[in-house]
Amino acid sequence: MNTLTKLALGLMGQLKAQPAVGHAGATRKLPRPKLSDGMPLMEALRLRQSQRDFRPRPLPAKTLSELLWAAAGINRHELGGRTAPSAMNSQEVSVYVALPEGLYRYEPGPHNLQLVAASDVRRVTGYQDFVDTAPLDLVYVADHSAMPLVPAGQREPFAYAAAGAMAQNVYLYCASAGLGTVIRAWFDRTALSRAMGLKPDQQLLLAQTVGFTVDGGGA
Ligand SMILES: Cc1cc2nc3c(=O)[nH]c(=O)nc-3n(C[C@H](O)[C@H](O)[C@H](O)COP(=O)(O)O)c2cc1C
Repeated sequence: MNTLTKLALGLMGQLKAQPAVGHAGATRKLPRPKLSDGMPLMEALRLRQSQRDFRPRPLPAKTLSELLWAAAGINRHELGGRTAPSAMNSQEVSVYVALPEGLYRYEPGPHNLQLVAASDVRRVTGYQDFVDTAPLDLVYVADHSAMPLVPAGQREPFAYAAAGAMAQNVYLYCASAGLGTVIRAWFDRTALSRAMGLKPDQQLLLAQTVGFTVDGGGA
């Protein structure tokens, strides 16, 4: 759907999720991420960039697993430490995973996906048309109730900082894995909150599309 149509539907309160494509189980297991793969960090930094032309080709389960681990995975099991920092280790930002078959939330502990809505929310994650057909749109959501020790006025900027760190982890993973990605803030917050069924304490922060690029290989 093109941007103008999305803007018009948004104004009418009619920008909505699509029926799911395929079946979504309540829990989706992810393979164990392979932490010995990947290019040197400096090479990934050299290649990091935003891309906006995606093929619809689904991401392999291994890729999805490693991508989510890079974003928010547990890298220090004794402390439950994550790959991205958060203020006072609040770990208030969750990664939602919009796939054609459903909307999931990534659970770093068991490293799996929990079904949130059996619908295709991708279209609602951004005004740009490529978000509808790219295989994956991530949505970063802050839970303000998880930040009781952070002064109320600082919760929002701190959550954005944490989401930015997670998004950059995804950028670097994508650079290393030959995938395209772009972080995005241009979306209809009302429509997306509704489509995701967010609670009052939950705040939409950013979205991020991931996929094989048109000129970067893949089927
Ligand atoms: C907070 C933030 C919001 C952004 N929102 C969008 C967006 O809605 N759509 C988009 O295509 N790119 C978006 N971008 C990506 C920027 O346009 C991109 O990072 C910038 O043009 C620099 O390009 P580069 O990432 O390739 O270096 C956003 C970037 C940031 C940091």
